[in-house]
This record gives sequence, C-alpha cells and structure tokens, in this order.
Amino acid sequence: MVVDSVAKVFEGRDASVEALREISLAIQEHEFITLIGPSGCGKSTLLRIVGGLIPPSRGAVAIRGRSPQDAQRAKDIGFVFQQPALLPWRSVADNVDLPFALNKQSGGDRRLGSTEELLALVGLGQFARAHPYQLSGGMQQRVAIARALIFDPSLLLMDEPFGALDEITREGMRYELLRIWSQARKTVIFVTHSIPEAIILSDRVIVMSSRPGEIREVIPIDLPRPRDEEMESSPEFVAYAARLRHLLHA
Ligand SMILES: Nc1ncnc2c1ncn2[C@@H]1O[C@H](COP(=O)(O)OP(=O)(O)OP(=O)(O)O)[C@@H](O)[C@H]1O
Ligand SMILES: [Mg+2]
Repeated sequence: MVVDSVAKVFEGRDASVEALREISLAIQEHEFITLIGPSGCGKSTLLRIVGGLIPPSRGAVAIRGRSPQDAQRAKDIGFVFQQPALLPWRSVADNVDLPFALNKQSGGDRRLGSTEELLALVGLGQFARAHPYQLSGGMQQRVAIARALIFDPSLLLMDEPFGALDEITREGMRYELLRIWSQARKTVIFVTHSIPEAIILSDRVIVMSSRPGEIREVIPIDLPRPRDEEMESSPEFVAYAARLRHLLHA
C-alpha cells in the first residue's frame, strides 16, 4: 500500500489544526510497521485516514490499488483500538461474530475461519461461552483482535491496542500478536508509545516528529524472526532502543 503526500488540517470554527504534513510511505504486503512519536503528532489521524474513517486534506492512500473507502467497503481493513469495545451482554463467541452478524444481509462475505478457529488463533479456545466481564484486559483485547480478523482483511490497523494493559500483560501480548501475525500474515500498521514494543514487533519503525506530524526517520529493524524475549537484552536491541530514545527526545 502507498501513502502519497498525505496532509491533514482540521478546520475549526475559530482556528485550524495542522495535524499532518506531507506523509509519504510505501508499505509491503505482510509488513509490520509501527508508528511512534510524541502525543498529538498525528499517529491516530494517519491511521484513521489509511482506514478510510476520515479523508486527507491533500494527498492519497492506495490499498492494493484501491481507495481506503473502497478497501473498507470490501472488508479489507480490520481495526483494533485501545479499548476492546466489547458488548457486555454478548458471549465472547458472539462478540467475535458481531461484524459478521451485522453484515448478514449483504451475504457472501468471506471469513478467516469459524468462530472456534478464530478463538483458537487468539488463544481463547476455552472461552467461547464466557462473557467479557469474566475476562482479563489482555483476554478482552484478544477478542477484539479476533473480531478484527473475521473478514480476513489484508490490512490490520492497531491504535495503541495494548496501551490500557498492565506492563506484564502487555509484554506477553507482544509475543501473542507476533504469533497471530505469523499465522494470519497481515500487513499491520501499529501505533505505540512503547519503544521495546515497537522494536520487537516491527519490520520498520516510523518515527514521527511533533505536530504537524512528519516522518522524522524510518528505522528498519534487522533482528531475525521469530523474535523472542531474550532478544530484548541483545546488544542490537539495546542499540535500537537507544537510537529511538534519542530521536524521540531530541
Ligand atoms: N477531529 C478532530 N478535530 C480537530 N482536531 C483534531 C481532531 N482529531 C485530532 N485532532 C488534532 O490533531 C492532532 C493530532 O491528533 P492525533 O490524535 O492524531 O495524535 P496522536 O499522535 O494519535 O496522539 P496520542 O499519542 O496522544 O494518541 C492533535 O493536535 C489533535 O488535537
Ligand atoms: Mg492517538
């Protein structure tokens, strides 16, 4: 997919906010890309433009040659946000199935697998009949990931999906996500404030500068895959972390 000279200005009644300035980026199929940058630099805005939720002020995005709106209509984009937004009165299985149920009328939609297969993919095979209140935060986020994958989208957009989790759960979820990604081979754009998360997950880390958001640097992460927790103490990892910290604080 291609992001070509995207800019975004939010026009207010009294003032306008220049959120993004000239973002250009080419992303390969199955690539894992992370956006990192100061609060307010436009990471969520960029994700929302790529996902077709809001239009850019200038520039364009092409996802397998289509506009984000067309890709979204074709169910080719999955979203995961900071809050899992599960319906408390529906079981885990029924929450995963919700997009499919809502879409029944149109019919003929492909899906990645059965509800059981999707729950097994995110490690919740035993919890189909449970309700969200019976799950930990990390488990609820797994449900949200399964739900986002139901239509087998080629692109998965994740906006700080682990931002509300405690640190220990969060560290485990990195490796869970890598396991899911290696099985379900999606292109992922992932937003985070966590430097270790960005390094361990990504093929490339995009460092953005503060508002108006621009790409400050693109850092390819040349650690071998599959990645594991031991890598987090390797000299290469530590060097990437120092580099990112320097860029983010400069
Ligand atoms: N709908 C909107 N209307 C007006 N301004 C907006 C709107 N959405 C975002 N902005 C502004 O655009 C800028 C970028 O916001 P955005 O939410 O994309 O930042 P972010 O990088 O995701 O920040 P954070 O790390 O805190 O989530 C901010 O200054 C924000 O106030
Ligand atoms: Mg944000």
